[in-house]
Amino acid sequence: MTAWSRRRALRTLSLFTAVAVMPRALASAVGRLFPKPGSDNFFIRHNDQPWALETARNAYGVGPITPISHFFVRNNLPMPADTVVASPDDWMVTIEGCRDGGEITLGELKRLPIHTVANVIQCSGNGRAFFPHEPSGSPWSVGAAGCALWTGVKVSDIFERFGGLDGEYAFLTATGGEPLPAGINPDAVVVQRSVPLTKGLADCMLVWEMNGSPLPLIHGGPVRLLVPGYFGVNNVKWVKSVGPTLSETSAKIQQSGYRLRPVGERGHPDHPSMWRMPVKSWINSPGGGGRAIAPGSCDILGVAFSGERGVNQVEVSIDGGQHWQFANFIGPDLGPNAWRSFRLSTQLDPGQYRLVSRATDQAGDQQPRDRIDNERGYGHTGWHDHGIDLIVDAKATLADTSAVSAKTSVNAASGTAMAASARVQNQSAGYQLFNQKTQPSCGACHTLAAARSQGAIGPNLDQLAPNAAQIRKAVAQGVGAMPGYGEQLTSTEIEALVKFITESAGP
Ligand code: HEC
Repeated sequence: MTAWSRRRALRTLSLFTAVAVMPRALASAVGRLFPKPGSDNFFIRHNDQPWALETARNAYGVGPITPISHFFVRNNLPMPADTVVASPDDWMVTIEGCRDGGEITLGELKRLPIHTVANVIQCSGNGRAFFPHEPSGSPWSVGAAGCALWTGVKVSDIFERFGGLDGEYAFLTATGGEPLPAGINPDAVVVQRSVPLTKGLADCMLVWEMNGSPLPLIHGGPVRLLVPGYFGVNNVKWVKSVGPTLSETSAKIQQSGYRLRPVGERGHPDHPSMWRMPVKSWINSPGGGGRAIAPGSCDILGVAFSGERGVNQVEVSIDGGQHWQFANFIGPDLGPNAWRSFRLSTQLDPGQYRLVSRATDQAGDQQPRDRIDNERGYGHTGWHDHGIDLIVDAKATLADTSAVSAKTSVNAASGTAMAASARVQNQSAGYQLFNQKTQPSCGACHTLAAARSQGAIGPNLDQLAPNAAQIRKAVAQGVGAMPGYGEQLTSTEIEALVKFITESAGP
C-alpha cells in the first residue's frame, strides 16, 4: 500500500475509534440473530469479547446450507457499532491501486454485475480442541465452520470500474473496519489480510448478502470480502479498503499470525499462511449430542469439503477406521467451494461404535489419519480425532435431541466483581504490570475488576477467568489481535501477572 493510501486507511479507521462500542450493543446484535428465545443453545459460547460462537455438532442440519441462526461467529476485535447496518448502502469502501482510485458506496457496488456463490467459511483453528498441547485460543471442535450462499460483486469488476490496476502487484489486501484502541500501533491489532493477487482477481468478491438476507453485522455486514475456499480470517469483515499490494501487509495478523508453525516456535513470514482449506469431513449425527441411540436402521450424516476443489468421495467407518464403506452424497452439488452432505445408511445393533469419516477431493487428496501438530492448533484435517463415540442401547429412545452442554460464559454481576477486586492488593506488582508497565498495557484492552480496567478489545478477564498456562501462553506469544510480550517482560514479571490475574479474575 502506498503511504498515502495507508494514511487514508488509518484515518478512516480512526473515525470509527471515536464511536463508543458498548457491550450492550454487542449483546443486542447477537441477540437478534437468535430466531427465538433459547435458541442460542445452538451455539457453544467460547467468548463474547470478541465473539467466538461455535455451532453445536448436533445442531447442524442435513441440507448443505447452514442457516444464519446456526452459523458460527469468530471476530478478532469488537465489531463496529450496529448503526452501520442501519443504512447499509451508505457504507463506503476505499479502492486503492487503480488508475482512478477513490471510494465507492455499497449502493454503487450493487450496480456492478452481481454473482451468488456457495462457500464454506471455516476458522483456521477449527479442530483445535483435539490438539493435546492445548494451544491458546478458542477450543473449537468441529463447529467453527458453515456453508452459506454469498451474493456480491467480483473484486476484478470493481478494479475494472476504477480504470484497472495502476501497476504490477502481487497480492490483494483488504482492511477491516473494526474500531482500534487509541495509542496502540495499528499494525499490532488491525485486521488486514493479504492473499495472492491471482486468487483475488480470479474469484474474490465483496459480498453484502448471506443466504438471501442482508449480511448481518456479526458476520461482517454491511460488506465483507469473500475469498472462496480460503480459511475464515482471509474473508475480512466490515471491509473499509481493498486494493492490490506489492507485498503482504505488515499487520501482525498476516506477518506472524495465522501461520502453521512448529509447536514452541514464534510465527514468522516463512511459515505457511492459512490460505486454501485442505480436504476435510466429519460426522454430525448420530451421537453428535453425546446421547445413546436405539438399535435398528440409522443414517450416519456429515459434511465434506475441500477449498477450490470440491470432494469426490467420502468413506465412513463404524469401527474407528478398520473397515470403510462408501457414503452417498445428499442434496445438490453447489460448487467447488461448498460442502456436500453425505449419508451412510446402516443397521446398528446394541454396542459401542467409533464413527469416523474420510473424504477425498477432486484432485485426489485424501484426509490424513492424523493432525499435523502446530503451535496454534490450526488446519486440523485428521480423520481420527474427529470421530464420534456412539453407544447403541435398546433402552435408548429414538430421539437424539440432547440439549447442548454449552460452555456458556456467565455474566459476572458487578457486585461479585467488586468482591473479587477486594481480594487483591491493588498496588501489587501484577497490578502495576497490568495497567502501566506493559506497552500497550493489558488494561487498554481487557476488563478486569481488580485492575479497575475497562478495556473492550479483548475478553473480559473476570468472565473468562483464564488459568495460569493460558495466561503465560497468551502473554509470551500473543493470540489473535493481542500482541506478544515475550521480549518485553521477564519471566518473573510474567509470573507476577499470572498470579495477579488468577487470584483476582472470576465472577
Ligand atoms: C491490543 C489489545 C490487547 C492487549 C494490549 C492485551 N490483550 Fe490480551 N487479548 C486481546 C484479544 C483481542 C484477545 C482474544 C484473542 C482471540 O481469541 O482472538 C486476548 C486474549 C487474552 C487472553 C486469553 C487467551 C486465551 O487463551 O483465550 C489472556 C489471558 C490475555 N489476553 C491476557 C492479557 C494480558 C495479561 C495482557 C497484558 C500483558 C494483555 N492480554 C494485553 C487483546 C489484548
